[in-house]
Amino acid sequence: MAEHKIKKIGVFTSGGDAPGMNAALRAVVRTANYFGIECYGIREGYNGLITGNVTKMGPRSVSNIINLGGTILKSARSEEFRTPEGRKKAYEQCKINEIEALVCIGGDGTFTGAKIFNEEYGVQTMGIPGTIDNDIFGTDTTIGYDTALNTAMEAIDKIRDTATSHNRIFFVEVMGRDAGFIALNSGIATGALDILIPEQNDSMEELFETFDKAGKRGKNSSIVVVAEGEKLANVYDLAKQTKERYPNYDIRIAILGHIQRGGSPSCADRVLASRLGYGAVLGLMEGKTNVMAGMRSNELVFTPIEEAIKKHNTINKDLLQISEILAL
Ligand code: F6P
Repeated sequence: MAEHKIKKIGVFTSGGDAPGMNAALRAVVRTANYFGIECYGIREGYNGLITGNVTKMGPRSVSNIINLGGTILKSARSEEFRTPEGRKKAYEQCKINEIEALVCIGGDGTFTGAKIFNEEYGVQTMGIPGTIDNDIFGTDTTIGYDTALNTAMEAIDKIRDTATSHNRIFFVEVMGRDAGFIALNSGIATGALDILIPEQNDSMEELFETFDKAGKRGKNSSIVVVAEGEKLANVYDLAKQTKERYPNYDIRIAILGHIQRGGSPSCADRVLASRLGYGAVLGLMEGKTNVMAGMRSNELVFTPIEEAIKKHNTINKDLLQISEILAL
């Protein structure tokens, strides 16, 4: 490994929080300290960088957080950092605090900010993908996705109990602003009748065909999992149109919402966060910049931030087919 020259780094969490962000922070702080690099925690994402809300973190300041959901540094979606004035203030704070490099834990909004900041001011930046949506290219999964998926699965299992008892149809909305990873995988895991995701073109007619087939096979309760970003319609409209077509159906809606963002991170998320936090510091020590640390086929890889934001992990078409075959 090349000898590192960095003396001080900053680390922050930004955008929507995700279970495992604390585990990533712990890994960054402890790895930096292990290699003799001072580490500063920046509170409330880019807002804390702008105002200089920073605190020195040693190995003990991240004790007992590996199992905690949320982020002890807090998070924000900073409007001010989107402006050149905001970024200028942030750069001034980097100089005042002698922060040479930043570890940015978050999703695409966080990375867009990091990329612009690096290009404008040359501050060394390293991304760690933390978002439940799993919509970042350059890593097989993002920190928080596995936990959120399991939370969604457990919630839908509970909905199934009541759906079956009352012979009801449930439209369940899961999170995923532009991505259907949570919907597709939680839908398969819970035996959903249909799964609607933004990555495929859905139609009401296809959905009705599925209901018809289910009816012919004697199914009298069903769950349709809908990604928040579904293009066809939201759960309210889907339920309304379905009721118009099948007046006898007893239909209910459940929106799982922010419950999916909370909770203690799963084992997979803690391990992923630990590996990426460690890898991010090593990457900075090797002089890498404007890249994101990710895990692909169990290997640490670095992807230019630009690619991580612009490209997308594709939805596995087999999963769609599997869901169709197994649901009926
Ligand atoms: O990006 C993560 C995410 O949870 C999305 O799934 C969701 O659309 C969005 O954040 C919600 O954001 P907020 O917490 O600001 O309402």
